[in-house]
Formats: sequence, C-alpha cells, structure tokens
Amino acid sequence: MSNANEKRQAGEAAIRYVEDGAIVGVGTGSTVAFFIDALADLKQRIQGAVSSSEQSTAQLKKLGIPVLDLNATGPLTLYVDGADECDPYKRLIKGGGAALTREKIVAAASEKFVCIIDSSKRVELLGKFPVPIEVIPMARSLIGREIVKRGGHPVWRDGVVTDNGNWIIDVHGWQIVDPAALESELNQLPGIVTVGLFARRPADVVLIGDQLMG
Ligand code: A5P
Repeated sequence: MSNANEKRQAGEAAIRYVEDGAIVGVGTGSTVAFFIDALADLKQRIQGAVSSSEQSTAQLKKLGIPVLDLNATGPLTLYVDGADECDPYKRLIKGGGAALTREKIVAAASEKFVCIIDSSKRVELLGKFPVPIEVIPMARSLIGREIVKRGGHPVWRDGVVTDNGNWIIDVHGWQIVDPAALESELNQLPGIVTVGLFARRPADVVLIGDQLMG
C-alpha cells in the first residue's frame, strides 16, 4: 500500500538537492506534487523548472514557478521524480501516470536524478507493477503481438492519450531479470515511443520517505 506521509517526506527531503540559481527538472505524480509544493517556498532562489507533463506544468504555474523550455535551458543539474517500482540498483518502472516519455527525456538531460518514493515502491525484482509502454496509435496491435512473443500480457490503457498524443500499453506478467537488456530490445521495435523501464539511465539517488536508500 502506498503511503502518503512517506511521499510527502520524500518530496520535502528532495529539496536539499536544489541549489541556488538552478533550473530544476520536475517529474510527475502524487509524490512529485509534494516536491513542487515545497519548491514553491524557495521559488525566489531558483530560475525555474523544466516540466515532464501538462499536469506538473499546471501545478508549477499555479504556484508561480516559471516553466522553461528544455531546448532553451541546455543540460540540467537536477531531476526529481517518483517511480512505480525501484530495485536495489535504483532501476525503475515508471509511467503509471502516462508521463514516461517526457520523464525519460528530462532524466536524460539531467546530471543527477533524485527519485522520491514511499516504501511500497521498493522491490527486489522489477515487474510486479505492469510495465507501461507508450506507442504510436497505429502500432498498438503490432506491439501487442511483439509483447506476447516475449512472454508478456499486454493491456491497452483504453481511453488514455498521452501528452504527446500517443497510447499506453501496460505489460503484465514480466519478471524482469535484466531490465537494461529488455529496455534496449524494446527500444528497437518500430512504433514504441518509450519503454517505462528506466534501467539504462537509473536513478542516482533514491529517497524512501526521508531516508536515503543505500
Ligand atoms: C508518471 O508517469 C510516473 O512515472 C510517476 O512517476 C509514478 O507513477 C509515481 O507516481 P506517484 O508518485 O503518484 O506514486
């Protein structure tokens, strides 16, 4: 069961990584919402944020934090985001909120990725949480068949359209022993925009509540 108190603690604890004058990469989700709330208290000390979703952009703007274009900012020093699962090597499943593509872009542009979670997200092996995959709509069936060939059970997140105009397939039934290899393999399939495995670029720091994961 997820724990709102730990999510709030993690969101607030991540503030210690924000440096004066920074442009902060901001993820998506209920844990990040606590981080954005806390970031608003020091908005005079930062230049602004690069957002990973329309949802986070709305919250940032509402709190008066400038939202900047990644094409204009250049590399970022810090990215703060939640996750759906986190293994002992800080490899993640993300995309429960359908924001995985922009999340992966901002993570890739950032020097340090601080992942904020509650203890329910910590697993030994990734895959109990279904792996979200963003697909170009016309490729949905094709990718579904490719997933079945690889032992997964694809479920279309019917009715959900991503911020990029694409669809999400959630893959059930995978016990993922080598997440980086699976991520690379899936990345090769035409029609897949983004795989919700963050293993090739894992988190650098994980906060579970206000505790640093070893
Ligand atoms: C958004 O697409 C996801 O990657 C979120 O980071 C993830 O679902 C965590 O969400 P919560 O913080 O709401 O649990």
